[in-house]
Amino acid sequence: MKRGSWSSKIGFVFAAAGSAVGLANIWRFPYVVGANGGAIFVVVYLLCLLAIGFPVFISEVLIGRTTQRSPSEAFKRLGNSNFWAVLGSITIITGFIVSAFYSAVAAWILGYLVEAISGRLTAFDSANQAAVHYDSLIQSPLWGIGFHLLFLVGCWGVLVSGVRRGIERGNKVIMPILYLVLITIVLKGLSLPNSFNGLSYLFSPDWSEVTPLMFLIALGQSFFTLSIGQGTMVTYGSYLHEDDNIVTSCFPVLIMDTLVSLFSAIAVFTIVFSVGMEPDAGPGLLFQTLPLVFSKITGGYFVAIAFFLLVFLAALTSQISAMEPTIAFLIDRFHWPRKRAVALCSVGVFLLGLPCALSSNVMKDITFFDMNPLELMLFTTSSILIPLGGFFAIILVGWKWGVPKAVRELHRGMSKGLRENGLFNFYLWFCFKYLAPALIVLVFLNALGVV
Ligand code: PFF
Repeated sequence: MKRGSWSSKIGFVFAAAGSAVGLANIWRFPYVVGANGGAIFVVVYLLCLLAIGFPVFISEVLIGRTTQRSPSEAFKRLGNSNFWAVLGSITIITGFIVSAFYSAVAAWILGYLVEAISGRLTAFDSANQAAVHYDSLIQSPLWGIGFHLLFLVGCWGVLVSGVRRGIERGNKVIMPILYLVLITIVLKGLSLPNSFNGLSYLFSPDWSEVTPLMFLIALGQSFFTLSIGQGTMVTYGSYLHEDDNIVTSCFPVLIMDTLVSLFSAIAVFTIVFSVGMEPDAGPGLLFQTLPLVFSKITGGYFVAIAFFLLVFLAALTSQISAMEPTIAFLIDRFHWPRKRAVALCSVGVFLLGLPCALSSNVMKDITFFDMNPLELMLFTTSSILIPLGGFFAIILVGWKWGVPKAVRELHRGMSKGLRENGLFNFYLWFCFKYLAPALIVLVFLNALGVV
């Protein structure tokens, strides 16, 4: 079975940006910033991106481009053993689990988009009304499952058309729309009274508030937002041509992803502060605080639709990328036609997503370690499996394969200026070999309470 490939480097940039930009940027980033002291968290987050996120991101794309294989086979080839194949397979399973709960959560966004269009999201007079409305929706199993199914049908439609005609083309259409909608909302936010308060909350750090926990949360955020540690970037890298420049392909993705996080936070904070509310409501910021704000501002009906459309599009392009490693694995390993691989993956994701879709209602009292199914999947992936997956990738590149060979391979397709730039080569060597692995271990030990 012939593997897919991007039509050009730009195809990769759009697809990888589509994967990176998702719920973690537009929904999670603003509320995590809101709950962790504002600007200071932004600074810590940017440091984590540069010191750990970006090197792991480059490593994964490099592993994919070099081997032209999906993660398990790719890890096996570079690691020269079945042990590494198992580690690669773990990253595929991680992506699969992520796609299951991601779809169940994206379903709520799709449901809220429908609510926004119906006008019901802009009819609130009090926080209590918005909360009651939210509860009535998520307590309905049919609502959650119906939108979970609908969302997956959309993903299936894109994925089944192939890497170039489906994923690449889909992202090339959706991503510009997403940016346009986001910029429109940011401008609206900035035009509101008191918008300056939102900006200063976001951009004037209070250094005394730094805590170790902040690094832990920032690391998790940077991994999740760059879609690393879960097979996606290895797979997307494997669709690059052998001499596509990796660094100039990955850097724009990092910038686009970071800009969307910052713009989303600007949009949310300026809008929320404009009516004198607080941005520290946690996950409820999106489903309860914002609808109440939309009910109060002029043009709120259209802002609400634009906002949920934005989040929906971002979730769609991320979801397809979370499913793609499993699909690529089925094609590479069993030589299945793409159609069959996409169908099996979609059904599997639907079934595994069901307990998540039911976590707020029918299955809410079924807990493991005090977590409902959705919380359990979120915790095991984002706190354990994803950092582990990123760790495997960077160890494979920095220690098993070895920095000299890896950097020589990375230099392929790169301009002479960058290839010979001492500072840049030092950054790569230091991050691949020491900084990123050491920081990931440290963050892990911290999570386990050892440090
Ligand atoms: N990067 C996505 C986000 O920011 O929401 C999440 C994600 C997508 C994670 C794809 C994993 C993945 F494979």
